[in-house]
Amino acid sequence: PDHWEKLPRPPIVVVMGHVDHGKTTLLDTIRKTNVAEREKGGITQHIGASVVQLPDGRKITFLDTPGHEAFTSLRARGAQITDIAVLVVAADDGVMPQTVEAINHARAFNVPIIVAVNKIDKPGADPQRVRRELSELGLIPEEWGGDTIFVDVSAKTGQNVETLLEYILLLAEILELKARVEGPAKGTVIESKLDKQRGPVATLIVQEGTLKVGDPVVAGTTYGKIRAMFDDKGRKLNSAGPSTPVEVLGFEELPMAGDTFIVVEDEKKARQIAEIRKQKKEQQEKLSRGLMLEDVFKK
Ligand code: GTP
Ligand code: NA
Ligand code: MG
Repeated sequence: PDHWEKLPRPPIVVVMGHVDHGKTTLLDTIRKTNVAEREKGGITQHIGASVVQLPDGRKITFLDTPGHEAFTSLRARGAQITDIAVLVVAADDGVMPQTVEAINHARAFNVPIIVAVNKIDKPGADPQRVRRELSELGLIPEEWGGDTIFVDVSAKTGQNVETLLEYILLLAEILELKARVEGPAKGTVIESKLDKQRGPVATLIVQEGTLKVGDPVVAGTTYGKIRAMFDDKGRKLNSAGPSTPVEVLGFEELPMAGDTFIVVEDEKKARQIAEIRKQKKEQQEKLSRGLMLEDVFKK
């Protein structure tokens, strides 16, 4: 129904940039945790999601993305659900191939960019060079008369990280981000994995409404009933509102990252929708196989 009021929601911010430019370290500093050291070889292999709450209660949802070039499609997915992109560029390295790629993704999805010029604590750091290089790509700093915010930071020492958060929240305010809080949830699957004990585990971002334990849900060609839900710190939740990333149990099969999910009236309906979608998908696959065979016979 239309009587459901839209209320302000936290911004969903994707952190992008070239490999090893300091995305995860920046988020670690923001979260005061230590994910970078726990990661295999120090390379981020999935989209991590976390919520940061400032002392005044304002929240920001962050998505970490891998900088390694093998993860192009994952990164493209990160841009689709986000309101703001923080482009991390190491001041001792400058603009690199995945920096350019990140800019292209953000632009393709119309996501405004804030530049975090990182590693300014390093002796070889040259933040002005980063400004010059990005200006050539059309990201002109505000202080040069353009409209892109640049913040010089050190993810390692924490220098200027609070200023960066302030700019993110300022931009979020300008964007007037709102969502419906009441009613059935919908959103996007950001990752999924099969757990030996727990079965399919999916990380979802709620974009509209409130997701609750017990909700029947459809995502892509699979369905289920939310059996348990956890926040980014692993705490059990009963419900999750807009911009909240949650890990959920209860899907029959693994949904795919990038699938949208919706809550429906009951599990029967959920199964029906998923089955129809599955059949459609199989028909399309058959059709495209058939077309490929036709191609073979023509030759
Ligand atoms: P990928 O996820 O692999 O793309 O890398 P990333 O961008 O997340 O970089 P990560 O946070 O893993 O940092 C890479 C290296 O740079 C690590 O050794 C960090 O300790 C170091 N580093 C990150 N930020 C800073 C900084 O501000 N100053 C200094 N001196 N080192 C930093
Ligand atoms: Na890294
Ligand atoms: Mg990383």
